Amino acid sequence: MLSFEDTQPGQQATPGLQPAAPAYGSNIMGTEPAAAAPAPAAAHRRIRVEDKRIINSPTDVNQLVPFKYKWAWEKYLAGCANHWMPQEINMSRDIAQWKDPNGLTPDERRIITRNLGFFVTADSLAANNIVLGTYRHITAPECRQYLLRQAFEEAIHTHAYQYIVESLGLDESEVFNAYMEVESIRDKDEFLIPFIDVVMDQNFKTGTPENDQKLLKSLIVFACLMEGLFFYVGFTQILALGRQNKMTGAAEQYQYILRDESMHCNFGIDLINQIKLENPHLWTAAFREEIKALFLKAVELEYRYAEDTMPRGVLGLNAPMFKGYLRFIANRRAQQIGIDQLFEGEENPFPWMSEMIDLKKEKNFFETRVTEYQTGGALSWD
Ligand SMILES: [Fe+2]
Ligand SMILES: [Fe+2]
Repeated sequence: MLSFEDTQPGQQATPGLQPAAPAYGSNIMGTEPAAAAPAPAAAHRRIRVEDKRIINSPTDVNQLVPFKYKWAWEKYLAGCANHWMPQEINMSRDIAQWKDPNGLTPDERRIITRNLGFFVTADSLAANNIVLGTYRHITAPECRQYLLRQAFEEAIHTHAYQYIVESLGLDESEVFNAYMEVESIRDKDEFLIPFIDVVMDQNFKTGTPENDQKLLKSLIVFACLMEGLFFYVGFTQILALGRQNKMTGAAEQYQYILRDESMHCNFGIDLINQIKLENPHLWTAAFREEIKALFLKAVELEYRYAEDTMPRGVLGLNAPMFKGYLRFIANRRAQQIGIDQLFEGEENPFPWMSEMIDLKKEKNFFETRVTEYQTGGALSWD
């Protein structure tokens, strides 16, 4: 749906083509900033790389090249190279274990159902946030390209969780309603939703310092606190099961998801830092204080989730260990976006999680699936 509303008198609109406006103006389905300068009677001018911006760009969002943000393009390529599909992973061992009354303890079962209760809807929230919110406001086409890949990966994650629920024969309505019915899950989602809603609001436009800060805050909450913190108790628990040779199919799915999420989180952090660089006026002391408060709240909510999912020690894990882990992760995320350390001297109680994040494709931790999954090579038709 191309719009020609900005066509100047005497300027002929050519279907499918529009001049790249040299200042804030009609950048064809990019953002139209609230504080846009009047569109000049622009002659067509080719894109100059130095004019590209992550937000409020005056350049045409349909022209992927010339690249300015090569890191975004490289992450897009890496995401494609890591492509996987849930149904490729054999779940028969998990099914037998789940059905065997002695296959798992009640506490291990609780971890699995709570985990799926959070994740079956979380990645749908993530997908909506990207497709209906963030994407519209990001005006660098190479970043949009990554977001499109990321959105598809979120669909694959929802598929993976659904596939586990279906394989184990769990009560679907109980699992898919957990985000409304289980307090520790609902509290996390209720924390996130205002930051998703703000960017999904059809009337929301960037282009003022106030709104640009709202977008930046939403990006920080999404990358650092949702994908970068709220997923980590759940990931650690399921991967701990896998390390003890339990639910190895589910654990393998989670391992691929963790690898994707860690890239989403890193992309989000690069995006945030680039916006900061291009718009230093947004990074005020008051704004940083607000972000710190959100980090502290998120650590508290994720810790409550840890307590709810592990009322007792299980798999060599217990809730207090996660207090240290969450503080360690929060410090790391804060440091990655240039916020002072939030907690003193926290160390990683689960160093093996770093190995999981750095999964190399040729490695196969749980030995349930053949080795490398890499697409993108030349197809042979022989
Ligand atoms: Fe995801
Ligand atoms: Fe994600």
